[in-house]
Amino acid sequence: MSGSTTPPASSVLDDPAELARRDPEAMLAEVAGAGGQARVALRAAQAAPLVGPLPEVVVVAGMGGSGIAGDVLAALSFHESAVPVLAVKGDRLPAFVGPGTLLVAVSYSGNTAETLSAVEQGMAAGARLVAVTSGGALAELAQSRGAPLVAVEGGRMPRAALWSLVVPVCSAAEAVGVLPPLTDQVCAAADVLDEEAAALGPEVATADNPAKQAAVALLDRLPVVWGSGQVGAVAATRFRTQCNENAKVPVVSGALPEADHNDVMGLEGGLGPGRELVLLRDEAGEHDRDGRRIQAVLAALGVADPLLRMAGKGPDLARLARLTAFADFTSTYLGIARGVDPTPIRTLDQVKAALSPRAGAPR
Ligand code: F6R
Repeated sequence: MSGSTTPPASSVLDDPAELARRDPEAMLAEVAGAGGQARVALRAAQAAPLVGPLPEVVVVAGMGGSGIAGDVLAALSFHESAVPVLAVKGDRLPAFVGPGTLLVAVSYSGNTAETLSAVEQGMAAGARLVAVTSGGALAELAQSRGAPLVAVEGGRMPRAALWSLVVPVCSAAEAVGVLPPLTDQVCAAADVLDEEAAALGPEVATADNPAKQAAVALLDRLPVVWGSGQVGAVAATRFRTQCNENAKVPVVSGALPEADHNDVMGLEGGLGPGRELVLLRDEAGEHDRDGRRIQAVLAALGVADPLLRMAGKGPDLARLARLTAFADFTSTYLGIARGVDPTPIRTLDQVKAALSPRAGAPR
């Protein structure tokens, strides 16, 4: 890693010129702007006609960097909602979808084939549609059906628009009484995102920057990422998908305590030299016994010092923001340290283009 021609990863991550050269489409700046993005999204959601009757069930249809907004809503609803909330990632919706369903379709581009076919099925079943998108066929469809539409800011990679999507999706649930008022939570999350950008951003040297340190530790290793509580579980998924797309590496992720019952066996004998354990802990969302379970699994694996990030205090969205900021910065630094441009996702584009009725649809 530190041969005569290859600079050590930390010096790459601490060199502004090298960062600019290796991140030409400025993914780091996108990540750093997440707080502002959340505030803009809140205004867009508040301006949209989202109010409606309490549904029997909420289904969020979306894929990839958009679909995770459905996981976030399901996590937030877990302790709050009187009705089930389900994230669906695929063309088909469950058989129970009908006139009592609020169907939130989320696609940043508005052109994702799976999301569009889920919408068609939902509309045919009589579901009430809310669309969250920056445009494309989904915006056209919502407008032609007179369905509420939250038009989010365009021009980003979908995964770099997490807060543009999460805020309206959660606001759609708030507006029908599934979640309590969210404005304070969103503002708290935006403040956390700004604080994390100041703590984890490119100008903070590796010696003082936990995200850069994590990226260096994950170089040439398989990240095994576990999250605790509902919020930590979503953050673990986000960590995996962001490392996939920004750093172009495979990742194993799971939720605790479920991972204690299966994933742990894939690590029998200990982590070994080729893997690194990342723990995203949301103590506020853990069961009383989860702390002891975590100690037990670390002891069983012989891992004294996992890469640990705590969600800290505050409302659900603020704690989630603390963990997603870590995931977003770490994955981008990992891509940069590996010498891969974080932004393009050529293989994903190729697969989507091959399968989409709109060949060549935007990423
Ligand atoms: C790209 C990304 C992808 C897309 C997914 C769905 O940055 O994150 O996972 O989110 O291919 O596309 P959209 O979000 O446009 O519906």
